Amino acid sequence: MTVHSDQPFNAEPPRAALVGATLTPLDAFYSRNHGPVPEGDAASWRLVVDGLVETPLALSLDDLRARFPEATETATLQCAGNRREGLVAVRDIPGEAPWGPTATATATWTGVRLADVLAAAGVVDGATDVEFLGADLSDEPQPPDVFGGSVPLRKAGMPEVLLAWAMNDEPLPPIHGAPLRVVVPGYIGARSVKWVQRVRVADAPSPNFFQASTYRLLPADAEVTRAPGEGVALGLVAVNSDFLSPDDGSSHPAGPLTVTGYAFAGGDRTVARVDVSTDGGTSWSQADLEEQVSPWAWRHWSSTVDLPRGETELLARAWDSSAALQPERPEQVWNPKGYVNNSWARLRLHGT
Ligand code: MTE
Repeated sequence: MTVHSDQPFNAEPPRAALVGATLTPLDAFYSRNHGPVPEGDAASWRLVVDGLVETPLALSLDDLRARFPEATETATLQCAGNRREGLVAVRDIPGEAPWGPTATATATWTGVRLADVLAAAGVVDGATDVEFLGADLSDEPQPPDVFGGSVPLRKAGMPEVLLAWAMNDEPLPPIHGAPLRVVVPGYIGARSVKWVQRVRVADAPSPNFFQASTYRLLPADAEVTRAPGEGVALGLVAVNSDFLSPDDGSSHPAGPLTVTGYAFAGGDRTVARVDVSTDGGTSWSQADLEEQVSPWAWRHWSSTVDLPRGETELLARAWDSSAALQPERPEQVWNPKGYVNNSWARLRLHGT
């Protein structure tokens, strides 16, 4: 793992660890934390469901298992800061980790549907948003506060949104949110709140720092003030892709070479096509896409290219099912917090 910080723990795997694994092994799953992993035992843990509901609830893990049917979804998480290093190369982004292309990963999540829990509480008229609050205290907001965020009520009521206690059929590891985390497929990773202890139904988006003041897309010329409400609150993930193998900067005999990567489209879009170019984008060939294992998951892809002698920059770009295409250059998407670098993927190779 490349460890961006120890406290809080932020780390991503080498590209090679993700090759060939549609489901990411737990030891290769990136970790993104804004505070320390909270302590607490699963037995005394409760999920409070309150706000604009008829019947507020306080549910133990046993209550969740007993009262609601178990549900499973395979879904990709992608951090809004994934591939930030490409933006940092354009212009420095102080105070933000230069994440590479592997702050994204896919798991099969098991738990209960949030929709079932909300139905049991009875959402009342006027509700528009559902806020999730974790148990971890971050010192990024002043004064320190728990991590949180919200999604629109219509998304919260969709069957793919889970309160999950297992990941790839293993109990959720503490670093990934045990005993329970939210999984919001198609949304930036920040909305999949870990160590969730409160679900609050509200009539406005969450005022939590991590929704109101950060994870927001600011114009390129804006100052980062962290004042609530500036810029665009990030939600749906934009179509993105990158290379997974071979390694950037590696040497290979000139001639046929197989390259691999991933592509992901957020919202309820899917990856429709991935193109690869060896001539700077003058011509493109279509990569082979692996089957779509879930509407909420990435697709890995591979392509055999004819590697010329000398230095070559390979390009890859994905199209989603709405015909959206990744933008060409990081300069076009640079923003002061370094989110959503979905510019074309670039891989430097040396043909010998
Ligand atoms: N939930 C809590 N409680 N605290 C956090 O710091 N980080 C968020 C989200 N949920 C976070 C959180 C972010 S920014 C991302 S990208 C994902 O968790 C990362 O999930 P992972 O660490 O399991 O990969």
